Amino acid sequence: MRLLVLHGPNLNLLGQREPGLYGSRSLDQINSDLTARARALGAELECFQSNHEGALVDRIQAARGQCGGLLINAGAYTHTSIALRDALLAVDIPFVEVHLSNVHAREPFRHHSYLADKALGVICGFGPASYNLALEGLVDHLRASS
Ligand code: DQA
Repeated sequence: MRLLVLHGPNLNLLGQREPGLYGSRSLDQINSDLTARARALGAELECFQSNHEGALVDRIQAARGQCGGLLINAGAYTHTSIALRDALLAVDIPFVEVHLSNVHAREPFRHHSYLADKALGVICGFGPASYNLALEGLVDHLRASS
């Protein structure tokens, strides 16, 4: 089972960026933990981060036919990007939306997601553990539906 995790803008600064909100773990630490967990679940995980909307669209398009499921923390693009929504719909790959923070307990502009209604599920508010929970949910779903 091949899976992809996509991280959007500013997530390369995890560990340094607003640690009270996003925690002290770096993106590299989160990715290596997640990769190990995926391996233990029998899946192969690729990680990709970009600050650029088009690069994320390109990576989603390249995943077509190559990967069985996606985790995506689109960062601020969650709340703005019809292009990411369209790309995810175009490739027809099941995905889970992930956020470290509880976006619903924050500013009103973070309450809307352009992705959530098309996601298998949304996990937010558990810090880096949000990714682990999303991974387990995604793998369970893919196993049950194969
Ligand atoms: C975030 C929440 C977004 O609103 C914000 O723009 C981010 C990070 C999160 O993981 O909590 O960049 O996606």
